[in-house]
Amino acid sequence: MSEKIENLLGEDRTFDPPSSIVENANATQEWFDLANEDRLAYWQKQALERITWYKEPKEILDDSDAPFYKWFKDGELNLAYNCLDRHLETDGDRIAFYWEGEPGDSQEITYKDLYERVCKLSNGLKELDVKKGDRIAIYLGMTPEIVISMLACARIGAVHSVVFGGFSAEALADRINDAEAKVVITADGAWRRGDIVPLKQNVDDSLKLTDHIESVIVVKRTENDVTMVDGRDYWYSELVDKQEADCEPEVMNAEDMLYILYTSGTTAKPKGIVHTQAGYLTGVTTTHSAVFDVKEDDIYWCAADCGWVTGHSYIVYGPLANKTTSVMYEGAPNAPDEKRLWSIVEKYKVNIFYTAPTAIRAFMKWGVEHPQAHDLTSLRLLGTVGEPINPEAWMWYHENIGNESCAIVDTWWQTETGSIMITPLPGITSTKPGSACGPMPGIDAVVVDENGIEVSKGEGGYLAVKSPWPSMLRTVFGDEKRYIDTYWSKYDGMYFAGDGAKYDDDGYFWLLGRVDDVMNISGHRISTAEVESALVAHESVAEAAVIGRADEISGEAIAAFVTLIGGYEGNEELISTLRQHVSDKIGPIAKPKSIVITNDLPKTRSGKIMRRLLKDISEERKLGDVTTLANADIVSELQTRSSESRDE
Ligand code: WTA
Repeated sequence: MSEKIENLLGEDRTFDPPSSIVENANATQEWFDLANEDRLAYWQKQALERITWYKEPKEILDDSDAPFYKWFKDGELNLAYNCLDRHLETDGDRIAFYWEGEPGDSQEITYKDLYERVCKLSNGLKELDVKKGDRIAIYLGMTPEIVISMLACARIGAVHSVVFGGFSAEALADRINDAEAKVVITADGAWRRGDIVPLKQNVDDSLKLTDHIESVIVVKRTENDVTMVDGRDYWYSELVDKQEADCEPEVMNAEDMLYILYTSGTTAKPKGIVHTQAGYLTGVTTTHSAVFDVKEDDIYWCAADCGWVTGHSYIVYGPLANKTTSVMYEGAPNAPDEKRLWSIVEKYKVNIFYTAPTAIRAFMKWGVEHPQAHDLTSLRLLGTVGEPINPEAWMWYHENIGNESCAIVDTWWQTETGSIMITPLPGITSTKPGSACGPMPGIDAVVVDENGIEVSKGEGGYLAVKSPWPSMLRTVFGDEKRYIDTYWSKYDGMYFAGDGAKYDDDGYFWLLGRVDDVMNISGHRISTAEVESALVAHESVAEAAVIGRADEISGEAIAAFVTLIGGYEGNEELISTLRQHVSDKIGPIAKPKSIVITNDLPKTRSGKIMRRLLKDISEERKLGDVTTLANADIVSELQTRSSESRDE
């Protein structure tokens, strides 16, 4: 980490906020003034102004059972009502989504259309006996139905658990089992770079591993053959088309569960992060307005997938509650070619664009001729999320997409935080390429040392949050102990984020990546333990150690080291079998980029695998301290094999 800190210290370019944004920015210095003066009053103001309540809350924060904080706990509301119904009287004809399918088809969906489609599915779910509090798994590609399904759950008080369409049948089954979901909403398939991801087939395979699911709803998208089981499987259109286009929203308590979203932790079992209603909506609407500076006539595009938290907060709940017109795109950024995203920006005259550093690094590799082929002058604000952005990628984004005139917001947050926590504000903050700048108003984020003491300017440590905030996770589903152990045990009374960070001499925040055993592959969190456990589940593998090694495009790439059970031969064929095996177990995103087969793994005398050493070996660095190594001769063997295993 120290090498990284030194590099960052060299970054002294700053960019003032564009004057066009400063003049009329949604978020102003007064926000900070109010939040600094009275944090709770600031949040109460946001909650009362941004949400339409059935019953306004009197109590702001209940911290009597910390860390099980409750926000606005006597309030009542419905999130689908806030995202749809309340806009209809004046803005029913406003476009909610310009949806663009990968094969080139498109839909213009108004707020009225979306309202009706949500109500119909809500009634369809009720017909399948879905009740308030029931969990519904959503396993779909990026078609309008993924948004409709989330909102239909919110409307009737069901809890959605969206499972990214790139996860395998087994990963889906694990999540269904953990949440005890009773319905799954899926599709025959999803388009991905011209290929079909067989979603329904995966659901069928997953149902062999779970007995919770009573009904499967299947959207027709790719028209591939699927098997339908009578009495269990329903075509979406057959269930939904016949329903009434109105459905009374359920009155929800502020602290009722809204959704569960699984994310990787330091063990092989993913954590079901729980978000509730009012605090979450307060966080996402406030940040969506402040950070993206969205105006009534803007066209906004968050190019994420609803399978991740970014899609939940900044495709669905934030933008819709703020009555925004969004672009939503189904497919891959290079389908049919590398100009696709830029042709969409030009087609819809997108003003605000939000993506991940890993995507920006891919754009860099593909070449400037692709963005240059399209008119991108409608853009005025660009955002990034998911991993640290290297200053070089930031500058490329600024020059080649932003035409050197857009504000850039590098937003730090997590599935757990629900909404953006550390970010520049586009009308206020002078930015530095590679820095997420500073905390949002009302967010008490700090960099602390091992003992929880805040570090000085110019020093590094761990990122923590000193006070609760409305959109924070409430627990880990079914596992309160894990909630406490993971987030609230390292420091007394402070949230531990699991990220390294530092202040520069001006007090700006620089995020330095995870400090636990979680890798960040193309902005997606995958735990080393999850991949290791998938590897050792293969009959040939005795032991496995997995690390994330630095990668030019994906930020980190998965590098695995395995020892074999006697009798198996470590050849190329086995390596490709193992890579496929991990993909089948977890999903293609978890496929190791390289696998080194070795006779032994570097271990301490007490038998602990020295991952740090494996990282040094993988990244072809001079080795760190090896004095605790019990089996020193393995290192040179690994160094040779690792360099041979590149570019799998
Ligand atoms: C990383 C995504 C640096 C970080 C919204 C965090 C970042 C994890 C940034 C959360 C950023 C996210 N700069 N690192 N701007 N944004 N991260 O839960 O390590 O998928 O802990 O949420 O991504 O990933 P998650």
